[in-house]
Amino acid sequence: MADLSIDFCGIRSPNPFWLASAPPTNTGDQVMRAFDAGWGGAVWKTLGNPIVNVTSRFGGIDYGNTRLMGLNNVELITDRPLEVNFREMREVKKRFPKHTLVASLMVETKEEWREIIQRSEDAGADLLELNFGCPHGMCERGMGSAVGAEPKVLEEIARWAVAFARVPVIVKLTPNVGDILEPGEAAVRAGVPALSLINTVKSIMGVDLDRMVPLPRVGDASTNGGYCGPAVKPIALHLLSQLARHPQCGKLAISGIGGISNWRDAAEFIALGATSVQVCTAVMHHGFRIVEDMLEGLSDFLDEKGMSSVAELRGRAVPAYREWGELDLSYKLVADINPDTCIGCQLCYVACMDGSHQCIHLPGRTEEQSRQAGHTHLPQHVPERAVTAAAGTPGARVPFVDEEECVGCNLCQLVCPVPGCITMEEVSTGRPPESWNDRIAQGKSYVPGGLEATEAARRRNR
Ligand SMILES: Cc1cc2nc3c(=O)[nH]c(=O)nc-3n(C[C@H](O)[C@H](O)[C@H](O)COP(=O)(O)O)c2cc1C
Ligand code: SF4
Ligand code: SF4
Repeated sequence: MADLSIDFCGIRSPNPFWLASAPPTNTGDQVMRAFDAGWGGAVWKTLGNPIVNVTSRFGGIDYGNTRLMGLNNVELITDRPLEVNFREMREVKKRFPKHTLVASLMVETKEEWREIIQRSEDAGADLLELNFGCPHGMCERGMGSAVGAEPKVLEEIARWAVAFARVPVIVKLTPNVGDILEPGEAAVRAGVPALSLINTVKSIMGVDLDRMVPLPRVGDASTNGGYCGPAVKPIALHLLSQLARHPQCGKLAISGIGGISNWRDAAEFIALGATSVQVCTAVMHHGFRIVEDMLEGLSDFLDEKGMSSVAELRGRAVPAYREWGELDLSYKLVADINPDTCIGCQLCYVACMDGSHQCIHLPGRTEEQSRQAGHTHLPQHVPERAVTAAAGTPGARVPFVDEEECVGCNLCQLVCPVPGCITMEEVSTGRPPESWNDRIAQGKSYVPGGLEATEAARRRNR
């Protein structure tokens, strides 16, 4: 069985699954129940000068039958006295000495940073996470994402923290910046050994159209909040992979956060460079017990792939990232519809017709009918196959793909409701691999008029 334990910049954790700093880590009792359930670590709800919170403070986005695809909050840092938080942290560390306890911190002045770091370490924190990411409430007071978006300020405060701390320091980054590498590099210059990302994305969840107030509504007003949950995972993966590829940032330990709900999400973050992963929304939605599936799923996956540890998975997918100009233009896929599983709903036909390249056809139509429907090009061959859907919808016609015309965009596969019914098949173009950068290097151009026209235009503009 694969070893799920990790080494996060010198701190061992029984597994990579940590709770993110948020309501699930508000109290010692919650963190202890989470550790009992199997979580390897917890980042305590951000400590600082306790604040007063508003109600309501969460907003949710449902999609179809899926509730809480995205969650938004206007909650601030801890609203409980620091002495109580520290006392409970001590109790947690006493009962779970081998689990990873991270203190998330956010204060203002240098002296406050010195004091809170010392008190967190005295309470047993194995790591410190500097919250430079909160995009609401605290940033107006010059903290949170106000720091995360200002590399110079971030660097200065992170430097203080490194100087004051005896344990490793993590800088938690905000996605609300133009270039994630700027705060990443600032953290490197400050000498921190680790990063975590993402904190929440600035957002407004909707509008109460009866009251004409944005959501979540606090009386007769609202404000921007922070967006998280499954909807933000692609953003988090992109930012993580940017940092993981960077020559200096990529050497730091990274804790990946953002929309992680199951072992597969976690494995993807680890494959793109994370050492540990943190979870908030999925626990707020489903509770601590989701970690059981995460532990089992990741362990089985590593076994199946012949990997003996989480460390072996870390960063495996990073080298496969390329700039667009380096992708192979000769690689070609075409869609293939399996008539045995197709239910004849024709969603693929509509999507390709209006949203792509009009390469899916309905059999049994005359040329005129096809042209009326919007096809400007007609297939040379109509496949010999059943036109009636075998798997349902009596009488429905099973569409077919004009492979010559198919651009391989895979929209039809994305809309098809039957898993595996449309597959994207690799076909040979007979051309050797060639990227856009190769073409440029060889002086080939595909602008109208070709390279000569481009060069003539350039000469004119010199
Ligand atoms: C209600 C709520 C409160 C949060 N409070 C904090 C906080 O105190 N400190 C912090 O660093 N992040 C806080 N976060 C952000 C989470 O730690 C995490 O970065 C974010 O939710 C993305 O992870 P997820 O998609 O798994 O929820 C909070 C998130 C939510 C939803
Ligand atoms: S979307 Fe899928 S099931 Fe529906 S017609 Fe197309 S291939 Fe068949
Ligand atoms: S892959 Fe794109 S172009 Fe090809 S059939 Fe599907 S939707 Fe049409």
